[in-house]
Amino acid sequence: MSRVVENRVAVVTGGAGGIGAATVARLRKAGWQVAILDRNMDLARQVAQETGGTAHEIDLADGASIAAAANWVETKMGPVDALACVAAHLENPHRPQDQDAEEWEAILKVNLTGTFKTMTAFGNPMRLRGKGAIVTVGSITSLNSSPLMAYGPTKAAIINMTRNFAVAWGREGVRVNCVHPGPTRTPAVEASYARGERNPDVMIRQTALGRLVMPEQVANAIYFLLSDEAGAITGIELPVDSGTLATGLWSLYGGVPDNGAD
Ligand SMILES: NC(=O)c1ccc[n+]([C@@H]2O[C@H](COP(=O)([O-])OP(=O)(O)OC[C@H]3O[C@@H](n4cnc5c(N)ncnc54)[C@H](O)[C@@H]3O)[C@@H](O)[C@H]2O)c1
Repeated sequence: MSRVVENRVAVVTGGAGGIGAATVARLRKAGWQVAILDRNMDLARQVAQETGGTAHEIDLADGASIAAAANWVETKMGPVDALACVAAHLENPHRPQDQDAEEWEAILKVNLTGTFKTMTAFGNPMRLRGKGAIVTVGSITSLNSSPLMAYGPTKAAIINMTRNFAVAWGREGVRVNCVHPGPTRTPAVEASYARGERNPDVMIRQTALGRLVMPEQVANAIYFLLSDEAGAITGIELPVDSGTLATGLWSLYGGVPDNGAD
C-alpha cells in the first residue's frame, strides 16, 4: 500500500443517494477520506455530517462540472485512489412507444456520457500515477430485457465501458469493475413502491433468497472491489441481487418454491 488508509481519498458520485450514501459510510468505516459528489447538495451535506465525508457539487449532465469536481478533489483532498460511479438518472417502466424524448436524452447524458466523462476525469490521474480502482454501477437490467427503455440500454453500456477501461488501463495500474444491484431498498425505490410504480412483493417473488437487497449490501461489494483485497480482480461484473438473475427460467415452471412448500 502506497499510503496509510487514513490518507487515501475515495470519490463517490451519487453519494447523497441510497447506495451512494451506504458506500460513503462503508469507506469511512475503513478509514478513507471520502468526497461525496452529487447534484443534491442538501442531501450530500447531510450525508457528510453523518459520515464525516466531504460534500461537493457535481452535475453528470455537464462535462465542465465533472472536470471541475475532479480538479477540486485532487487539489483540496489529495490524489484519488478509488472512484465509485454510483450516480444515475432512474426511470419508471413504460413501453417503447411511450418513451419521452427529453427523458431519453437526459438519461443518456447522465448514465452513459456522464459516467464515461467521470471515469476519464477521475481515472486519468490514477493512470498517470500508476495506481487506482474504479467501480461502476450497472443493474440487473444491464443483462436482460426490462420495461426501463432508456435506463436499461445505458446500464448495458456500463458493462462495455467497464471492460474497455479495465483493459485499456490495466497495465497502468488501474482496476475497473462493475456491480449490478438487483432491486434495492433505497429511499428512492421505497418512494416508488409507495407511489404504486413498483410492487415489492412481485420483486421479492423473483429472488432466490426471498428478500430484496439492502443498500449496505451493495456498498459492501463496491467497497471490496475498490479495496486492495481485490488486487487481482478487474473487468468483472458482480451481481448483488438476492439471486434474482439466477431465478431466470423458474417462472416457466411455476416460480421459485416457497419455504416449506413440500
Ligand atoms: N435501487 C435499486 O433498486 C437499483 C437497482 C439497480 C441499479 N441501481 C443503481 O444504483 C445506483 C444508485 O441508485 P439508488 O437507488 O441509490 O438511487 P438514488 O436516486 O438514491 O441515488 C442516485 C443519486 O444520484 C444523484 N444524481 C442523479 N443525477 C445526477 C446528476 N446529473 N449529477 C449528479 N448526481 C446525480 C441523485 O441526486 C442521487 O443522490 C444507480 O446507478 C442505480 O442505477 C439501483
